[in-house]
Order: sequence, then structure tokens, then C-alpha cells
Amino acid sequence: MALPLRSLAPAPPDPILGLTEAFRADTRPEKVNLAVGVYVDDTGVTPVIPSVLEAERRLLEKAGPKGYLPIDGRPGFKNAVRDMVFGPDHEIVRSGRSATAQTPGGTGALRVAADFLLQTGSSRTIWLSEPTWPNHPQLFTLAGFALRTYPYLDDSGRHVDAGGMLDALRSAAPGDVLLLHGSCHNPSGVDPDQETWSAIGDVVIERELLPIVDFAYQGFGFGLREDADWLTGLARPGLEFLVCTSYSKNFALYNERVGALTIVAADSGRAAAALSHVKIAIRSNYSNPPAHGGDIVETILTDPALRTRWEADLAEMRNRILGNRAALVAALVAAGVPGGWDPIRRQRGMFALLGLSADQVARLRDEFGIYVVGRGRINVAGLTTANLPRVVQAVKAVIEG
Ligand code: LMR
Repeated sequence: MALPLRSLAPAPPDPILGLTEAFRADTRPEKVNLAVGVYVDDTGVTPVIPSVLEAERRLLEKAGPKGYLPIDGRPGFKNAVRDMVFGPDHEIVRSGRSATAQTPGGTGALRVAADFLLQTGSSRTIWLSEPTWPNHPQLFTLAGFALRTYPYLDDSGRHVDAGGMLDALRSAAPGDVLLLHGSCHNPSGVDPDQETWSAIGDVVIERELLPIVDFAYQGFGFGLREDADWLTGLARPGLEFLVCTSYSKNFALYNERVGALTIVAADSGRAAAALSHVKIAIRSNYSNPPAHGGDIVETILTDPALRTRWEADLAEMRNRILGNRAALVAALVAAGVPGGWDPIRRQRGMFALLGLSADQVARLRDEFGIYVVGRGRINVAGLTTANLPRVVQAVKAVIEG
């Protein structure tokens, strides 16, 4: 008869994508969007990278019927992205103890993972890093999980609080789900070192936790293999986990919604059985994945020359971000802005957390037209030669009050 009462009170805007809406409505010509994690070049444009253009050209040439894909996606795509996550010679690949499903983006992979776990009787408790990507709490709560958090950053906000994190995880109950950021932690850019990854793996085994690795930025930090160093902590015999990957960033395919969920099990039989339940989660949500984005990724990853071209495209994006990190730190230091900025140089991926208060973030937006997320998460890729001086002066103004 009528819509539910609560649906009639407007919901708050999304903490990230809602800022893009506000940014678009802002008429100030000098406005700067450092909010959503989308790569732009030095002219402020999100490029279609050359390897993607070439793959699209080839796909158009051999365009065929647009029938449904299998529920879990195209086999060629699934194998290619599995090999990219683990490396083709990894024991997990050789033993066949993983199973992959193509999903609409990394967010789709996370939601399918959540549904799969709850529909097959997993613990209903999930542990998230504090801070984390703002969509994690919403996504897992709406899927039916109860949230717990583990501290992630030390007081400086520039390093992992390994002791605090591990202590908190030692209080988790057996079977609890543990969400980890594989690399390029969102929002901080601060990642565990190898030693901490090993210690995380030890606690996972000791407390019998089930990790989900949110791995949305492979290749955006230090390199495709370098960014997979979390594997040294988790890839151990008998340790089972889920990996959610996104190809939005590393292929600049944001609006194609292409990602994957990979389940790593103790043996191939367990992986195959789990995939049959993943397919039910997919079928009941969106039936089967869209084809085009996955076809682009498969075309690139399975053609050696095109793959080499793509790795160069990826390196170009990564190196620009690393250059921006150095330029930002140098400019903040040169302007005498108070704060321990230097570690930002060596952080990984798209984001850096400036560590601002809500008031300071509001002033950046209202007085200076600079849009940032939460406690001052900035998309480092959004800095350009043209906007960097203004951003630094604005940050200085709000920090100095
Ligand atoms: C971000 O954190 O900005 C990106 O992952 C985009 C998104 O969907 O929030």
C-alpha cells in the first residue's frame, strides 16, 4: 500500500560518491576533487589507457552475439586474473586449490563474498580495520554481519600499529571473518611490512579466523608482485581465505564494473564445492556478470604484447602517483605546514590520510572548494601541477587555524 516510513526520510549522501555529487554542483572554477579514488593525469582527465583502447578495437573487430555469460564469468578471464593475483607459478595455482568468479567490480566481489559466507553458515562477526573504506561497514552490515574493529594506525597515523592490531585480533572468536586490505590501504596508504603480514598469518591460524583480502589496487603501489606481499603471510598449507579484486583502478575501467572473487581452499575439491555456493549468491543477486569489462581484461592479460603494453600503462599511473607523493611532501615541508609528512612519500597507492578534523575538512570544502574524504583522505592522483600549490596553501590555512 505505501512505502516503508523510513524510506521517506532522505538517507545521508554516500561519504565518497556523495562528495562527487556535491563537487559537480559546486560552481567555483578553482574547485579541486581529491575525494573519490579515480586516477587522473596531470591535466585532470581520467585517461582511457592505450592498452585498453587496443583491446576494445580488437573486441569490436570480432564482435559476436551478446548471450549470457556463465554465472561465474568467462573461464579465460577467471584464469587470467587468478594468475595475476598469485603469479602463474604459485603453489595455489599449480595445485588448483582456488576458484574464481567474475563480479561487477570489487564492491560486487565483496557483496558476493558476504552473501556466500552468510548463506553457508559462517560466523556473523566481521573484523574491520579502524579506519577503513567507508563502504565496508555499510556493505557488511546490510549483508547481515555484526561489525568489530581492530586498531590499524599508530598515533601518528603514518604507520601500522602492529601490536594493537594483533592484540585485538587475538580476542576474535574462532571462525570470525577478518577483512584485510591486501595493499594500498584505503584510506591511509599505510601497509603492513612482511614481518607484520607473517604475524597476521600466525594469528589467523591461532584464532582460526577466515580472512577476506580486499585487493583493489594491485600494481598501484609498488608493482604487481610487490603489492601481493600479503600472500607471504596468508598462503600457507590449510589456510583458507577469500580475495576480492577490482580492475577499476589498474585498468582504469571504472565504469565497466569488473572485478573477481577468488576462494582459496585447502584443496581443489573444497574450492569447487565453495564455488557452487558462490554461484547461488551471484544468481540470486544479478544472475551473471556483464561481459565487456571482463573481455577487455582477458584480452590484455592473455596477449603477451598487449600485456607488456598494459604493464607500461600501469607503471605510468603508478609512477605519477609516487611523483605526486614526493611533490606533496616537499611542498608541505617547504610551506612550513606543521605535521610529520615524510612517511607519505613511501606509502602505497592512491590515498594519503592527512589527519584532519571534521572542521578542517569542512573548511577545505567551504572556503577553498577542496573536496577530501573523512579525516582528510586525499586521492594523491588528483593532485596536478596546477592545483598542488593551492591545495598546500589551503591545508596550511586550515591546520594553522
Ligand atoms: C574510493 O575509495 O574512493 C574508491 O574505492 C571508489 C569508491 O567506490 O568508493
